[in-house]
Amino acid sequence: MEPEYPILSEAFFADPYPLLRQLREECPVYYHAPLGAWFLARHDHCEMAVRDRRLSNARARELLSTLMPTLRGTGELEAMIGQWSRLLWFLDPPKHTRSRGLVMRGFSAAAIERVRGEVRASVEQALANVAGGGEIDVVWQLADPVALDVLCAIFGLPHDQRAEFRRWTTDIMQAAGAGAMDEDPAMRAKESSFKLFGLLSAIVHERCARPGDDMISRFLGDERGDPAVIEEVTIQCFQMVGAGYVTSRNQIACAVLALLEHPDELARLRTDPRLLVPAIEELLRFAPSVLTTNRLAAEDLEIGGKQIRQGQLVFPILASANRDPAAYVEPDRLDLARGGRPMTFSVGPHYCPGGPLARLELEEALAGLLRFSSWQQLGDFDYRGASLQDRGPSQLRVQLGV
Ligand code: HEM
Repeated sequence: MEPEYPILSEAFFADPYPLLRQLREECPVYYHAPLGAWFLARHDHCEMAVRDRRLSNARARELLSTLMPTLRGTGELEAMIGQWSRLLWFLDPPKHTRSRGLVMRGFSAAAIERVRGEVRASVEQALANVAGGGEIDVVWQLADPVALDVLCAIFGLPHDQRAEFRRWTTDIMQAAGAGAMDEDPAMRAKESSFKLFGLLSAIVHERCARPGDDMISRFLGDERGDPAVIEEVTIQCFQMVGAGYVTSRNQIACAVLALLEHPDELARLRTDPRLLVPAIEELLRFAPSVLTTNRLAAEDLEIGGKQIRQGQLVFPILASANRDPAAYVEPDRLDLARGGRPMTFSVGPHYCPGGPLARLELEEALAGLLRFSSWQQLGDFDYRGASLQDRGPSQLRVQLGV
């Protein structure tokens, strides 16, 4: 009988790293009985798992039933499974290969670079109120509007629907990341999921009629007359909104917090702005906003001497891979000049296509904040609402000095 490690506890989300270290050392392939799922804590196991075809992404049914137990057996859950099964993140080849190709049309380096101006403008606007110095909540007054503006910009989302868009996306992401074991969040996630889908469907149809220089038009390409492509694009936009909003907001906040907690590294960054690009990789490694990804065992397999049975869910803990001493020297030390790639965006066929966009947001947000000569953290914060998929401080008040 294995000891129980409190991997979904409040204490874990407040600071996951002591427990992740313990798991790596004591039980790197861990079966969490309450969730009925396996957790992988070592870098090599995580990397193997996200590349191994015996571990499938076609797991919408198993994941949603596990994460939303209160909806089991309901028509609502079935409808949601039907919708989510078609998202990129839930597909295996050959379907995944085709849908991923369509999505990647919109994520070329040039397409990402084209939104730099919008990202910068969003950062400028967020910081305008404190231009002469003052207090800012980095989560809600900087990271959140920037993450939202970027999605609105790349998809051409209408401005008057941003508040609803934010609410629906947040509800869905909470459930997707194992934060909705209770009835209310699960029900909210279901309702929000359908509303967001409706909004995106209307926008995609509008873009078919009037193509522009936005990402949806690029996804549609020359196939905008094909109803199957229109439907596919709507589904993958839904995927991207869910995957790209809360993750990016949390990532900006986690990066700023890590710098606040390491004043020597922050000072180093101030004196050498060329460090900014490697610093982003290191901040992504040290303080990732996404803790895990997940897969479903398509057949029985062994990992690290443990027998995983067909049909069981497996969570590679990417945040733990990032702190594995077998992969990184002194992994618990933040070293902005470290270099190298973190596991934060995963690797293999499903690696995050939004990585370059998230990096761009981080770069612009940090560059904006670094124009202030001092940052001083004010008050407390917690990790309310955090899940395995999305972790970030619930607020982060900072006094900026000029
Ligand atoms: C810092 C912010 C972000 C982090 C930490 C992050 C992390 C991840 C991770 C860990 C995965 C799963 C990979 C796997 O299972 O192997 C993923 C998938 C994905 N992400 Fe991101 N992501 C971020 C931002 C974004 C953004 C901004 C977008 C798009 C606008 C995006 C779009 C996607 C999509 C579409 C997938 C599914 C890819 C597939 O299954 O082929 N992500 N992301």
